[in-house]
Amino acid sequence: KIDLRGRDFIEFTDYTAEEIRYLLDLAIEIKGKQKNGVPFQPLKGKTIGLIFEKSSTRTRVSFEVGMFQLGGHALFLSKNDIQLGRGETTHDTAKVLSRYLDGIMIRTFGHHNVTELAEHADVPVINGLSDAAHPCQVLADFQTVLEHKGKLAGLKMAYVGDGNNMAHSLMLGAAKMGMHVAVATPEGYEADSAIVEQARSIAQESGSQVVVTYSAEEAVKDADIVYTDVWASMGFEEEQKIREQAFAAYQVNEELMKVAKPDYMFLHCLPAHRGEEVSAGVIDGPNSLIFDQAENRLHAQKALMAALMSE
Ligand code: CP
Ligand code: NVA
Repeated sequence: KIDLRGRDFIEFTDYTAEEIRYLLDLAIEIKGKQKNGVPFQPLKGKTIGLIFEKSSTRTRVSFEVGMFQLGGHALFLSKNDIQLGRGETTHDTAKVLSRYLDGIMIRTFGHHNVTELAEHADVPVINGLSDAAHPCQVLADFQTVLEHKGKLAGLKMAYVGDGNNMAHSLMLGAAKMGMHVAVATPEGYEADSAIVEQARSIAQESGSQVVVTYSAEEAVKDADIVYTDVWASMGFEEEQKIREQAFAAYQVNEELMKVAKPDYMFLHCLPAHRGEEVSAGVIDGPNSLIFDQAENRLHAQKALMAALMSE
């Protein structure tokens, strides 16, 4: 019997494959309930605070709407509008918010802000994106893969682009679930080598393969899932021009997709830039599942909040 009440959700490494699978199955079940108009409100009277230090469309709206649908209430806490933005410590913020709230989600720059908040909070802390990780997105991505491919283990996921937070969480998550993962980046934009090593050691247990390469073709060859993300993440906007040059050969387009499996799924966490990391033909084409993926943020995070924050 899996019981995740009271746990934080910071990165896939904190969870077993069985626990992740439990969350994914719950997400699919909750989605079915919502589509059929069956109420599911295990969080009546509960509140979650959503701390945002960066912009968001999907994460903010899916957490707010998700919590409402679960019977609870969500508070949007822009970092600039709370005392955290004026120098109140993470420690004191964690302690005070824990006296009011049943859970906290944080979107921030430094990953240490998430771990420090979790260390001092007395309620579950959810990572809503840091510079190092975006596990909520990957939960929704894996739900989307399960819905369309019926399994995770044994599939091959290719990620082409920046070795960023998405690359990290996809690698760790895929390794955990027994999915092969190949990450292609330009030189100088590799994924964090410590995370690659961590993913490799997890993959040894799950029987999957983790490949890092500078060749987009090598990564995409025979892939079941092809994933990309923006070339300049939040916080790196001033590098946009230089990155456009560095990443020019890494666009996910019709030519590159010729080497993927014919029934490949295209995924992108969004927001996207057509004509940069992905061609319009691919992202708006028949293999693209980007809006299912975005929708699943709602269902996957409802499952997460219900599992972590229920009585
Ligand atoms: N994919 C994602 O996290 O989107 P937002 O930045 O809009 O929340
Ligand atoms: N890598 C992107 C993901 C946005 C959801 C960023 O951090 O900006």
